[in-house]
Amino acid sequence: MSLDIRPDSLLVSFYAKRTPGGIRRICFKNLFLKQCRSSGVKIFMQIAIDGPAGAGKSSVAKEVARKLGLKCLDTGAMYRAITLQALSEGIDLNDDQLLGELARRCQLEIKIDDQMDTLIYLGGEDVTEKIRDPEINQHVSIVARSPALRKELVFLQRKIAGENNGIIMEGRDIGSNVLVDADYKIFLDASPEERARRRWLEIKEKGRAVNFENILKEIANRDRLDRSRKEAPLKIAPGAEIIDTTACNLAEVVEKVLIIVQGMDCRD
Ligand code: CDP
Repeated sequence: MSLDIRPDSLLVSFYAKRTPGGIRRICFKNLFLKQCRSSGVKIFMQIAIDGPAGAGKSSVAKEVARKLGLKCLDTGAMYRAITLQALSEGIDLNDDQLLGELARRCQLEIKIDDQMDTLIYLGGEDVTEKIRDPEINQHVSIVARSPALRKELVFLQRKIAGENNGIIMEGRDIGSNVLVDADYKIFLDASPEERARRRWLEIKEKGRAVNFENILKEIANRDRLDRSRKEAPLKIAPGAEIIDTTACNLAEVVEKVLIIVQGMDCRD
């Protein structure tokens, strides 16, 4: 194996890992990523970001991905897509087998654009906006309990990770289940009130009428379902770094993540 790295400019240690897909991947530790980027060396790393609704996972993951030149996948969008399809077909949301079968046949397509947004297509139709509807928020955590459905989506998520040499994946079970060998695991949290306030602001900025108490209730309900389900519940993965974002803005959280990943303050 040869690596295009000048030994005098970088301190590199690396090891090979076997991923769930059986692919050997080179993992870097103690690597000064900033120097690597400026030397044109490609960084292959997997970062898992988990946490409850409104903790800031998507915004943080996208920004960190842009800074590190990695792809970023929002796995929640995939559960939302199946929920949309299940609702439109009138499928019983408690039927594990039917949901698994739906995931296999529903022609779910996932694209990651240049902005690191996860775009979702169902049967060729772009449903990226539709999957954010309040109706989906209300039902997605019920659908996401289904082990048969999770099996299908986790398979796809690992496939996407395998196809991209380096990815940031965010969701609920990434560090604990989907990418257990991720190089870095981060758990973002914030108080329920702060998480609801962020969602309330987001929706208000889109010009929609919204009641704060209802959002708080919906978030609490989703937290309860996501944490208590049998299959891959929301939990802190062993070895994960916990960041409480309650009092932080986006830039501060991104900086904390970069410090964890890069081991040093790497602000541009
Ligand atoms: O954006 P928000 O935090 O509101 O939620 P999301 O990331 O879009 O995820 C929506 C729902 O999908 C979650 O509440 C979970 O029920 C489910 N989900 C999951 O079970 N596992 C994942 N890896 C990602 C999401």
